Amino acid sequence: MSDTRRTLLVTGGCGFIGANFIRLLQRRFPSWRVVNLDKLTYAGNLQNLAGIAEGERYRLVRGDICDAELLDSLFASEGFDTVVHFAAESHVDRSIVGPGEFIRTNIHGTFTLLEAARRHHLATKGSEKARPCFLHVSTDEVYGSLGATGLFSEETAYDPRSPYSASKAASDHLASSYFHTYGLPVRITNCSNNYGPYQFPEKLIPLMFNNALQGKPLPVYGDGRNVRDWLYVEDHCEAVVEVVEGGRDGETYNVGGNNERQNLEVVTLICDLLDRKVGPLPSGQPRRSLITHVADRLGHDRRYAIDAGKIRRELGWEPKVGFAEGMERTVDWYLGNRRWVEDIVNGAYRFYYDEMYGKLGAAATGGRGDL
Ligand code: NAD
Ligand code: DAU
Repeated sequence: MSDTRRTLLVTGGCGFIGANFIRLLQRRFPSWRVVNLDKLTYAGNLQNLAGIAEGERYRLVRGDICDAELLDSLFASEGFDTVVHFAAESHVDRSIVGPGEFIRTNIHGTFTLLEAARRHHLATKGSEKARPCFLHVSTDEVYGSLGATGLFSEETAYDPRSPYSASKAASDHLASSYFHTYGLPVRITNCSNNYGPYQFPEKLIPLMFNNALQGKPLPVYGDGRNVRDWLYVEDHCEAVVEVVEGGRDGETYNVGGNNERQNLEVVTLICDLLDRKVGPLPSGQPRRSLITHVADRLGHDRRYAIDAGKIRRELGWEPKVGFAEGMERTVDWYLGNRRWVEDIVNGAYRFYYDEMYGKLGAAATGGRGDL
């Protein structure tokens, strides 16, 4: 991988995958500058980037990808040659209860960002600075649900079935249309379920970890036999780097862990790891006894599984972290960072920004004090 200078706009960098991605870039690419544009919704957490100082290599801007004026001013002042677009509403259950924000951020926000990139691309086309790449980070859920066999390939027809996956499918189509219509150098990744440090405890693995640690019921939807293809988050971030560095414009790359697991299998593994690491429940019962079957998710997709052959063949990417190792690392990280989880559960994490923004003043919003 090269370390030639790049100036990246990373959207949603205070979320789970975005924060892991920025941390990876900090370790690996000393000459890359990252501007992290994040609205700091409930899912954005400044603690995810604790220890990363603002300066030559990193700048935080609190702002909304739906704000065209802010985007134009950032493109003009920073001259981005690379956009890595993570910002989204990401939780399927929330999309079932309230789809509106998913339509706004995932569809209208992606459209607004594509428009800003198009204006910037036109303005800089042919100049020495022009080496743009717009990577849209998306999901395998756009392909719908599999039966007992088969894999999602890049040729699988889209068949989204939740408001979340429909909004991501729409944003994929928009991104792809900007390549075909305007020649914007768009690339798309469609990835399977991630797990690892800094995942918001609404998602299966950190939610089950936290409940199991506290001896609370573990709510498994339906029969618990739904299958997801789990990938350690750092492996996903490495795949994103590979596509930025070596991917082809206009192409889609599927990213997956080759690691299909039924939900019950994942939950029992978390229980057993915790029993081993911190001992059984005070009653002496194993944590598996907390598993409680609850009503199924509406429209619950049965099985996802990715064929990641294209990115392996073209870019040499393969997952490095196996599931047993990844889950050990994940459980150890959550055990070692209990305060991080507690602060989310009790809401304290929402105050970090106010504290930090007070120190940074208007500079943190690119001078726009109204954000
Ligand atoms: P997340 O919910 O943890 O983080 C989303 C981030 O985006 C937060 O920091 C939030 O503040 C920010 N954000 C939300 N709306 C915004 C807006 N309007 N403007 C600016 N910032 C905004 O999400 P995640 O799990 O890290 O997922 C990141 C991306 O990867 C998403 O696009 C998601 O669809 C995709 N993806 C996720 C997974 C997964 O397993 N988590 C798998 C495949 C693809
Ligand atoms: O496949 C990629 C997608 O993976 C991403 O695009 C999404 O952003 C991400 O949230 C994730 O979606 P899922 O719906 O698969 O993840 P979640 O962690 O919400 O659920 C995983 C499985 O566990 C799913 O079958 C539902 C089930 N589940 C989830 C929760 C939160 C339960 O049984 N109980 C629960 O409490």
